[in-house]
Amino acid sequence: MIRKVVILLIVTQVFSEKVFKSVPVVVKTYENDTVLLPCYIDDTEAKLRVRWYKDKSLLGDSDIPHHLLPPRTRMYANFSLQIDELNARDSADYTCEVIRPEPWGPIRQTHTIEVQYAPTVKTIPEDGFVEVRKGDYVDIGCETTGTPLPVVDWSKNGAAMALLDHRSRIRFRAEHRSLAGVYECTVSNGVGDPVKASINVVIYDAPVVTTERSFVHTAVGLRAVLSAKLEFATPPARTAWFRDGKPVKLDDRVVLMVQDNMHQLIFRTVRKSDLGNYTFRAENSLGMADVAFKLTGVPNIASFKVEPALNKATPVSYTLFWEVDSYSSIIEYNLWLRPYYGRLTTLEPDAFTTEPPANVWSKIVVPGDSSDGPIHSATYTVRGLTPSTVYEAIVTSRNRFGWSKPSAVLHFATEPGFGRTLPSTFEETDITPILEEPQQEEAFNITKAHIFERLNETSNGFARETWSFATIFILVMSFLLR
Ligand SMILES: *[C@@H]1O[C@H](CO)[C@@H](O)[C@H](O)[C@H]1NC(C)=O
Ligand SMILES: *[C@@H]1O[C@H](CO)[C@@H](O)[C@H](O)[C@H]1NC(C)=O
Ligand SMILES: *[C@@H]1O[C@H](CO)[C@@H](O)[C@H](O)[C@H]1NC(C)=O
Ligand SMILES: *[C@@H]1O[C@H](CO)[C@@H](O)[C@H](O)[C@H]1NC(C)=O
Ligand SMILES: *[C@@H]1O[C@H](CO)[C@@H](O)[C@H](O)[C@H]1NC(C)=O
Repeated sequence: MIRKVVILLIVTQVFSEKVFKSVPVVVKTYENDTVLLPCYIDDTEAKLRVRWYKDKSLLGDSDIPHHLLPPRTRMYANFSLQIDELNARDSADYTCEVIRPEPWGPIRQTHTIEVQYAPTVKTIPEDGFVEVRKGDYVDIGCETTGTPLPVVDWSKNGAAMALLDHRSRIRFRAEHRSLAGVYECTVSNGVGDPVKASINVVIYDAPVVTTERSFVHTAVGLRAVLSAKLEFATPPARTAWFRDGKPVKLDDRVVLMVQDNMHQLIFRTVRKSDLGNYTFRAENSLGMADVAFKLTGVPNIASFKVEPALNKATPVSYTLFWEVDSYSSIIEYNLWLRPYYGRLTTLEPDAFTTEPPANVWSKIVVPGDSSDGPIHSATYTVRGLTPSTVYEAIVTSRNRFGWSKPSAVLHFATEPGFGRTLPSTFEETDITPILEEPQQEEAFNITKAHIFERLNETSNGFARETWSFATIFILVMSFLLR
């Protein structure tokens, strides 16, 4: 049975090749053109009957008068089919069927017409503008026409989007304001030039405000600037500067400057009364954002300098060196010191522990200098230390406006003593001072900063002691949390 079918196929093949002098064609053409599709048969054949089909539906029959044929279409005596003034709807498969006398069955030949059209595009929504609240769904698209079927490529704010396919529709949730922007589709099908269309997606959310410097060090008579960056404000935000909850009074000396999205409060010459807490606020219908500032005269955070030439180490002493920015002279420094047992165990084998060290900080008061700065440097040799021991040190500085925040922790080690009073488990070559990176957040976090502030020019011993306690508490806490 199978063999029979195969034979029949071969016979049909041979026969049809013999019957059709024409070959199947794909006609790519343009609007208003005329196409002539052949159904060219060996005319030595017996009288034949030919039917033309457009896709699956009958178009014409040589045995039936021409009225069957639709407009713009005709069938010649040689069975060729002609279609004039082509339009988009004429794109189809056209099959010429030759009906032969018994016992032969009909044979067919199919041609294809593709009326090519340059692409067109229409955005969804049509006005190309979408406004949503953060969290809402965004549904945009580019509806296209054109033959062959166009492909759609997307870009957002000029950068190509990595989509897995050439989808014409994009749906997403506006989870973040960064999803806002201009979405552009480029539609092309190889006919004419690609066409583009764009949709502007606007996402509404509460404003976002940032600052690079919330703790601003200054001194009376200097120029000082508080800068807030309005990162995002859609819908537009109202902005204002406050001091202690009241709007800042502006005049010739205290001025506002707004450039692009940078909002600055400028003190042309700082007065003592200007020092204090400030807030920049941006507010729109969806919310409000505040940034807190502190305009202060206290010194900046001091930093230890690690230089072998300066850090002279002996078994029982070590020389520390640090610098600090302050526009007023430094009255005194507090140097805090303690042995560091976190990593190093010399006495008990299992003393390595994450528990806070039992050692308390010792405070050394180091006198300041009389220079006006702005950079002040100080050096101090700590004596009476234990050989082969790692210590940690912190320094704070005070000028007439108060105490600075504490420096980053410096780790340093003393030299081994004669006869090694303590057994050492670490390599001597490892003993180099290590300065821990200051924590960025702490430096800019105004909430923490307030704990340390003493805007009191005549700060007395009691105030200082309270402050010291606060420092130790914070340091122990930060050690625990590490
Ligand atoms: C085809 O003909 C129609 C009617 O005359 C005209 O409107 C259209 O622009 C023509 N198309 C092209 C591609 O020339
Ligand atoms: C069929 O007839 C038409 C009209 O006379 C002619 O233009 C065409 O060339 C013919 N086709 C063939 C294959 O002879
Ligand atoms: C600044 O703000 C902090 C916290 O809000 C507050 O504790 C402190 O007293 C304020 N300082 C001044 C000078 O108002
Ligand atoms: C500042 O620090 C406090 C205490 O650690 C924390 O609660 C707060 O969220 C921080 N603020 C910022 C803006 O980082
Ligand atoms: C400064 O400290 C003194 C003594 O503790 C105190 O009486 C005074 O009120 C303080 N001034 C300010 C502005 O905090």
